[in-house]
Amino acid sequence: MIVASSALDALAGVLSPDELVTGAEDMARYSRDWSGDHYGRPLAVARPRATADVAALMRHCWEAGIRVVPQGGLTGLVGAAVADPSGHEVVVSLERMNAVRSVNAIDYAMVVEAGCILEEAKRAAEAEDCLLPITFGAQGSCRIGGNVATNAGGFNVLRYGMTRDLVLGLEVVLADGRVWNGLKVLRKDNRGYDLKQLFIGSEGTLGIITAAAFKLFPKPTQVETALVGLRSIEDAMALYARARRACSDLLSAFELILRDCIEVSLRARADLPDPLREVYPCYALVELAASGAVDLRTVLETCLAEADDLVADGVIATSRRQADRLWSYREVMVEMQGGGGRYLRTDVSVPISQIPRFIAQAIAAVRAAYPEAQPLAYGHVGDGNVHLNVIPPPGLASDAMERLFHGAEDVIFTVLDTIGGSISAEHGIGRVKQEAYLERIGSVELDLAHCLKNAFDPRHILSMGRILPAGTAGDG
Ligand code: FAD
Ligand code: LAC
Ligand code: ZN
Repeated sequence: MIVASSALDALAGVLSPDELVTGAEDMARYSRDWSGDHYGRPLAVARPRATADVAALMRHCWEAGIRVVPQGGLTGLVGAAVADPSGHEVVVSLERMNAVRSVNAIDYAMVVEAGCILEEAKRAAEAEDCLLPITFGAQGSCRIGGNVATNAGGFNVLRYGMTRDLVLGLEVVLADGRVWNGLKVLRKDNRGYDLKQLFIGSEGTLGIITAAAFKLFPKPTQVETALVGLRSIEDAMALYARARRACSDLLSAFELILRDCIEVSLRARADLPDPLREVYPCYALVELAASGAVDLRTVLETCLAEADDLVADGVIATSRRQADRLWSYREVMVEMQGGGGRYLRTDVSVPISQIPRFIAQAIAAVRAAYPEAQPLAYGHVGDGNVHLNVIPPPGLASDAMERLFHGAEDVIFTVLDTIGGSISAEHGIGRVKQEAYLERIGSVELDLAHCLKNAFDPRHILSMGRILPAGTAGDG
């Protein structure tokens, strides 16, 4: 590793002055993530304007052995996008590469630069009557490169798939500065290996994504939203299975929210009343979306009426404003669950049919081991994806908090292992989930992961210590 001051001098020769940020104050906003749980100490922050600038930067870092970490909107939840504490890592923020290069309503495809904020990309698609169906709470802050690098999920996965299912092509700057132009918008392309899939979900460890081509869909002209109260999680899952059939597979979201989560929103926002007349153990946010001549309202009403053995009560929004209000029970809870403090986040997946068993067993196990903590469960259950989080008791000292998080995660993952689930459905491994990931990965899978890392980044300058621990990927 070359010393920091000479590394900085050398970087200044590659980038223009406004592309390189080195002052501690100016670097502050690139050094802390959304959660506030993770801070970095970058050597410098590079803010390239074009793919050629990223390539020049990487060529230099490759030659000089300078480590880099690509950064999007800093909403990732596994501590991967901030620099490590060494002061030797250069953050490459893609924020200035934010152009929408093209939207084509006949191809049903768009090409967007990595630094474009997801919501802006969605708006550009909507302007052409198309839908980019990556949708979640952080969409106003996260960026396209981050979405691809984490293979983001969200509310609409049950209908349209994960980000992986939506990417048609990528442009990537490799660790040595070469540019791979795989920005095709072809629907079918079976030439050899599907290289783009290796970069999707690679969390910045294999290359810097500079642009992505996405599949689009017809923009829905009708959206219907309901919040229903249910007597059990089993009933929620039975409703999900039935609603898919009864609604001609037009479900675009099916979010499970347990009562404790609703109460977080009620405590946080005095203007939010209890959503239904009575209190239920669990609730489901159900959304249908369609374009064209479908009477979506009747489809939803009929489905819910015919499911009166499952649906104890419910409300269907009569306006977009009311639908947003129903969604706010979900969104406020996500923002406020920790009351501004730290909490344990998980994002596991199990087979859809196993959700009631997983939630019941995991909550019981957490309560037994940590009666003073509060487990909260919600999730994209149409994808078998549960966020089972654990809120520490107020005033817990930080070392006791670490022990609680570690122990509770272990308790949850032990239940998960008995069901054959995944420790990360959405958020990835980064640094936070690395230990649990390595404990569960088979030797063949780990060997292949090392081979990939060594093939794409033999000098280990990209996002070192994320997914795989630093210094363990062989000597290339
Ligand atoms: P960052 O946090 O900046 O980076 C994330 C990772 O990607 C890091 O490893 C980083 O190095 C890498 N990276 C970033 N840009 C590039 C690039 N150009 N090339 C290569 N690597 C890159 N996630 C879900 O999947 N589903 C959800 O429903 C969801 N809901 C959320 C709700 C809230 C309120 C919040 C705060 C987060 C949520 N997330 C969710 C997590 C997060 O928003 C996603 O992981 C998102 O895709 C991260 O994008 P970002 O631009 O913020 O990436
Ligand atoms: C969500 C994030 C936390 O589902 O993944 O809100
Ligand atoms: Zn989620």
